[in-house]
Amino acid sequence: SRIPVRFQEPMRFWNTWGVGGIAKAVMPITSESALAEVRRASSDAGDRLFILGEGSNVLVLDGGIDGWVILLRDDPSPPEIVRSWGNSVEIRVSAGYPLRRLVNWSVRRRLSGLEFAVGIPGTVGGAVAGNAGAQGRSIGDLVSFVRTLEVDGTFSDWGKGDLTFAYRSSPFAGGTSWVTSVGLVLSLSSDGLVRQRLRHFASLRKGQPKNSRTAGCVFKNPPGGSAGLMLDSAGCKGLSVGGAMVSREHANFIENLGDATSDDILKLIDICRSRVRDQFGVNLELEIKV
Ligand code: EPU
Repeated sequence: SRIPVRFQEPMRFWNTWGVGGIAKAVMPITSESALAEVRRASSDAGDRLFILGEGSNVLVLDGGIDGWVILLRDDPSPPEIVRSWGNSVEIRVSAGYPLRRLVNWSVRRRLSGLEFAVGIPGTVGGAVAGNAGAQGRSIGDLVSFVRTLEVDGTFSDWGKGDLTFAYRSSPFAGGTSWVTSVGLVLSLSSDGLVRQRLRHFASLRKGQPKNSRTAGCVFKNPPGGSAGLMLDSAGCKGLSVGGAMVSREHANFIENLGDATSDDILKLIDICRSRVRDQFGVNLELEIKV
């Protein structure tokens, strides 16, 4: 199989913020077997290799990436039902499948559990690695198994007992074990109920910017608090550095107004963080991956 490689590729084309320097090369891959082949070859050759999904929760630095970047592209194979018992249905889905398509897929089958994820961009693999969530729920709560690809090109299978998920973190967050497929347990419900829950979760996102380039929430919510509320109270909305501006709609989003650099975004992050530290004595942690 031939993989179209692009050399000296600006990473700004490959993340939702639209920023970041040059990578040695990028290559789109969809299949598990091609992924394994490339990882094995690169570990033999000693190249640094990174994996990126839709790039919806990352900040690529202006200095670029000294290595190759695999772009995990939309895997065309749909989720499959592995088994079901009572109202529970276990499905298997590949890491490159877009999360929004998985939400649609499950809603169409009256399968409840993923409604909270409506509106979250990214791939299933990225969502599991970062334990994506909203409203106190996260995808890790549903995960029953994970298959990963290791540095040497072999696969590992993780059962529920091996998996510890925490708020926006998983055993795969470090990027060493790459998630290639995932098992999720959903529950069969009624069409009305699933759609009602979907509308409920969609309505909670109304205050978020939709038509600008962002990477979702920049900071994690501190225990018991809301980063967005604190940033807003600290007067961060509308603050800008270069082409980056704190959203006027939701203070935990930073928008690229067109020509922002990663450096602009990092400077703005520092300003916001120190404002919140001064006003609330809270040190906000990053939610995005740098
Ligand atoms: N608020 C303000 N001003 C703002 C932003 C928020 O007053 O500028 C207030 C809101 O009115 C609300 C409270 O702060 O009373 C909490 O805000 P919101 O409901 O927007 O929820 P959040 O805690 O800021 C979380 C997740 C989002 C997720 C939403 C909706 C984190 C860091 N954020 O936001 O996740 O979309 O709930 O379900 O956990 C992300 O992970 O990238 C992300 C955006």
